[in-house]
Amino acid sequence: MDERIKRIKDAAAYLKKQLSGREPKVGIVLGSGLGNLAEDIKDKITIPYKDVPGFPVSTAIGHKGNFISGKLGDKQVLAMQGRIHSYEGYPMDYVTIGIRVMKLLGVEYLFISNAAGGTNPDYSIGDLVIIRDHINMMPNPLIGPNMDEFGPRFPDMTCAYDMQLRKKAEDIAGELGIKVHKGIYLGTPGPSYETPAEVRFFKEVGADLIGMSTVPEVIVARHCGIRVFGMSVVTNLSNTRNQAKALNDAEDVLKQAGESAKRMCLLFTKLIESL
Ligand code: HPA
Repeated sequence: MDERIKRIKDAAAYLKKQLSGREPKVGIVLGSGLGNLAEDIKDKITIPYKDVPGFPVSTAIGHKGNFISGKLGDKQVLAMQGRIHSYEGYPMDYVTIGIRVMKLLGVEYLFISNAAGGTNPDYSIGDLVIIRDHINMMPNPLIGPNMDEFGPRFPDMTCAYDMQLRKKAEDIAGELGIKVHKGIYLGTPGPSYETPAEVRFFKEVGADLIGMSTVPEVIVARHCGIRVFGMSVVTNLSNTRNQAKALNDAEDVLKQAGESAKRMCLLFTKLIESL
């Protein structure tokens, strides 16, 4: 068997045993500083990545490295508290292993979140953005022999971010009085932040948000037919000019993400309840 598929199946088999009969239909990936959503999950089972056979361990700050199973609202969910990034040095099939494991466990919807730099002048720090599309500046996670049992060689990406979920999220945000934007997320490999020249370039080609994650997981989710809802928290505003007083700082990013996490959690919970 393909070594990558064996690793996915072994991890899924271990998690299935730990879940003792629970059947999550919703998978959640909690980005930098957003792991607190896990606190709202009831009747929790916590499974550290380090206990899952073949599973990589997340080394990035603000990423705890646990699967959390339980109920959010009335739905069984499986959350990844902390993600794996390609900048940590992991190959893409490790970065995205959690998504394919979720697929084998029966997950139909992926709710994915991240902290991002805002390039759109309408955005302020702390704003929430419904991701409506992405631009991939990382290596494509599907490079290599196609895993036919998960999906086709050339998967469609026309509607990567589910239109119905986006519409519902906007309606729910309106009802809750939560301000949301809709934007395009550009994924860079990182780990260095962008230069002002890069920010100007990314803005010019259509990016509203810049981050170092999400795109690989979304491509892999769409490859295997999982419906995706993505949300960014604007944790900093990307500099288009070289200003020494406006440097990017990972600690600030985490702090800001934590402050916006409550609104994002509420929106995720209501949207998941409505499925
Ligand atoms: N750039 C890239 N990734 C990020 C940023 C940023 O400005 N903020 C949070 N993650």
